[in-house]
Amino acid sequence: MPGLTIGDTIPNLELETTHGKIKIHDYVGDSFCIIFSHPADFTPVCTSELGGMAKCMPEFQKSGVKLLGVSCDDVESHKEWIKDVEAFTPGSHVRYPIAADPKREAIKQLNMVDPYEKDAEGKPLPSRALHIVGPDKKVKASMLYPASTGRSMEEVLRVVQSLQLAAKYMVATPVNWKPGDPVVISPGVSDQEAKRMFPQGFEVKDLPSKKGYLRFTQIES
Ligand code: BEZ
Repeated sequence: MPGLTIGDTIPNLELETTHGKIKIHDYVGDSFCIIFSHPADFTPVCTSELGGMAKCMPEFQKSGVKLLGVSCDDVESHKEWIKDVEAFTPGSHVRYPIAADPKREAIKQLNMVDPYEKDAEGKPLPSRALHIVGPDKKVKASMLYPASTGRSMEEVLRVVQSLQLAAKYMVATPVNWKPGDPVVISPGVSDQEAKRMFPQGFEVKDLPSKKGYLRFTQIES
């Protein structure tokens, strides 16, 4: 995603949303925030994704994560569309704001333009782009999918929980990690420091190299 990558500050755009005008940095505040775009209102995959996000909202809230949707259509269209979204995904309530971007200025600055998808007038449409932004307003992770592939909300939640763990402890999460699974201690932490930082102990995997770099520990949530 050239132009906006890990470590970059998210542009502090003023956006028209279903919850009124917001400035991105004020909205993020002291939280993690997921900013995710959709190609267009009243389209099948997008309708399922918006409902999926809404259904996961209690989980995101438990982790202190805010959500902000982006779709180019106007706010009135978004408000009508939300009725379909909630009807399609029973139990979902779209309580997060969805920004409008009829001029396609925000999606350009947020690096969310799909190079192939166009609307009926030939105007660019957003890809399924998603930035996880930290309380410091910097991009911590991004995902970029085409219009044809709906995202896994479980994966989005898993990534945000991994980022939050890594921000709090000097750890990282290995392949297919799920919340509650053991984590690995970051390579920059010496064994001596690890003994102090992880009083619960850690297991060093015995590998052919004998380098002792794969160290698992358990973090209680
Ligand atoms: C969809 O949400 O289903 C969709 C939107 C734009 C292009 C293709 C699919």
